Amino acid sequence: MRTSPVWNPQQYSKYADERGRPFADLVARIRADEPSTVFDLGCGPGNLTATLLDRWPTATVRGVDSSQEMIDEAQPLSTERLSFEVGDLREWTAEPESVDVIVTNATLQWIPEQLDLLPGFVRALKPGGWLAIQIPGNGNAPSHAILRELAATDPYAEFAKDKSLRPDVPAPAEYVAALSAEGCTVDAWETTYSHILQGENAVLEWVKGTGARPVLQSLSDELRERFEAEYGARLDVAYPRQGFGTVLPFRRIFAVAQKGS
Ligand SMILES: C[S@@+](CC[C@H](N)C(=O)[O-])C[C@H]1O[C@@H](n2cnc3c(N)ncnc32)[C@H](O)[C@@H]1O
Repeated sequence: MRTSPVWNPQQYSKYADERGRPFADLVARIRADEPSTVFDLGCGPGNLTATLLDRWPTATVRGVDSSQEMIDEAQPLSTERLSFEVGDLREWTAEPESVDVIVTNATLQWIPEQLDLLPGFVRALKPGGWLAIQIPGNGNAPSHAILRELAATDPYAEFAKDKSLRPDVPAPAEYVAALSAEGCTVDAWETTYSHILQGENAVLEWVKGTGARPVLQSLSDELRERFEAEYGARLDVAYPRQGFGTVLPFRRIFAVAQKGS
């Protein structure tokens, strides 16, 4: 099985409140009444997956993630109705027409061929079932543009040049087209949140938990320290700290699809 580079659940969870907001906004648009089988694909540390138990009190909820570290973090949250397993979404399958709801939050951006996975997800849904997707659409924001630019310069380029996330992710309309072609009714939109982050080097701390991870992990300790100092200084200029905190504008793309009955 293919695995993704090592995730650090503690670093990722530093801004749990801000990271949880789009998940809540996504799930609010799923109008399933009493689903019995719910999957969270790319569940991460499982804290958001666990909120689905209250949302659907009769459902069994299963979280899947390719990172052993994330699943280890999630396991203590397991209950009779909630379980977690390691698995790669590129290989994930379920019995056709066996699942009521699939949620995949902040994950498909890591899979360049993500649109090819959608027919398999829809196939797994029961007629009338729901697929809910959220991905960051901030690949051209300064946080990522600076990361790519710096990673392509010496002495980092040799190790880090191709490690950045691709900036191009599907637009809402592309999800509409892809999921309509699978017989779904689709509601797709985008939102730019203005997260107010507290503390020093707040944006650096945020991206260290997600988008910058593959670049940073490609570098030796010495180079990583140097990279973080340069990257952090440039981020502080692009996202100045103010009296109330540091504003991080963050565009996100949503698609909620209901399979035809
Ligand atoms: C940014 S985290 C999101 C976690 C969680 N959904 C949340 O909203 O907090 C992205 C997650 O996607 C997982 N991931 C990346 N590629 C994956 C793949 N091919 N298969 C399964 N999980 C994957 C990572 O391990 C990571 O836990």
